[in-house]
Amino acid sequence: MSTIPSITLNNGLAMPQLGFGVWQVADDEAATAVRTAIESGYRSIDTAAVYENEVGTGRGIREAGVPREELFLTTKLWNSGTKDWSGTSGRDAVLREFDASLERLGTDYVDLYLIHWPRPMHGSYGNIWQAFEELAADGRAKAVGVSNFGPAELGHLLGAGSLVPAVNQVELHPYFPQQELRAFHAEHGVATEAWSPLGQGKELLGEPALAKVAAKHGRTPAQVVLRWHLQSGVIAIPKSVTPSRIRENFEVTGFELDAEDMAAVASVATGRRIGPDPTGFDWN
Ligand SMILES: NC(=O)c1ccc[n+]([C@@H]2O[C@H](COP(=O)([O-])OP(=O)(O)OC[C@H]3O[C@@H](n4cnc5c(N)ncnc54)[C@H](OP(=O)(O)O)[C@@H]3O)[C@@H](O)[C@H]2O)c1
Repeated sequence: MSTIPSITLNNGLAMPQLGFGVWQVADDEAATAVRTAIESGYRSIDTAAVYENEVGTGRGIREAGVPREELFLTTKLWNSGTKDWSGTSGRDAVLREFDASLERLGTDYVDLYLIHWPRPMHGSYGNIWQAFEELAADGRAKAVGVSNFGPAELGHLLGAGSLVPAVNQVELHPYFPQQELRAFHAEHGVATEAWSPLGQGKELLGEPALAKVAAKHGRTPAQVVLRWHLQSGVIAIPKSVTPSRIRENFEVTGFELDAEDMAAVASVATGRRIGPDPTGFDWN
């Protein structure tokens, strides 16, 4: 079984560089998918309140029978519980949402709690982030971070005295490699986590340039893309409900992309996102 490398977050916590994502997995399918992933060797699981599968995810974790402390569990705060992001009600709403996630997951802590989506149009993050800092301080979230933040939104949190987010989880794949944001993260000690690391499994995996690198190593295009993430220092969380793909996506060690291979993967970049541009996008 593959030994997946870890990234040391800015608070010293080790996070596996490869995890299992469960967006768009129905709650009643999530337990089987998560259990299959853990049985295949994954030790990091990424869910979110808005995925509405925290119950199934928690069940899958328990069914797999691996001790909780050997797993790295991420969930995320959705916007609806925190419509008012200003004032003390913002802080209280975060703590309520967090407790509800723990209850659904059936655990008493998470390894990483993220603000799922920025809302620059709704004012400052101060009271929201204060609650995240409290959760980090009391250990109910071993690390806290954000998702879909750009440099401007991160800038709000990087002010004097605030806890620096451990992670920013953003859309990132060979079509959209986020080089500038990655450099910004590196400068500020924020780890980069890639969502849709396989480009949602569509055109990207059919790119001839990837097929060539895959053939050279006797691997699949998905394995080459995940290897590219690992060698780029990025955390990747591919999703699949197909057992053979769940296993395939975990077998990404035991080979190395050389500089030419890395350049071939990078050559497919289009600079286009699959998902919405978080800047100015308002879910509410
Ligand atoms: N923070 C955010 O705003 C945000 C946004 C999006 C995603 N995420 C997180 O990131 C995770 C991954 O992103 P994603 O689910 O959007 O996309 P992804 O992991 O890039 O791709 C998943 C898709 O690719 C297919 N697939 C998986 N492995 C494959 C393989 N080896 N060969 C061919 N096809 C394969 C899957 O099909 P099957 O399932 O049918 O096998 C599924 O349709 C999510 O599950 C979620 O945890 C976070």
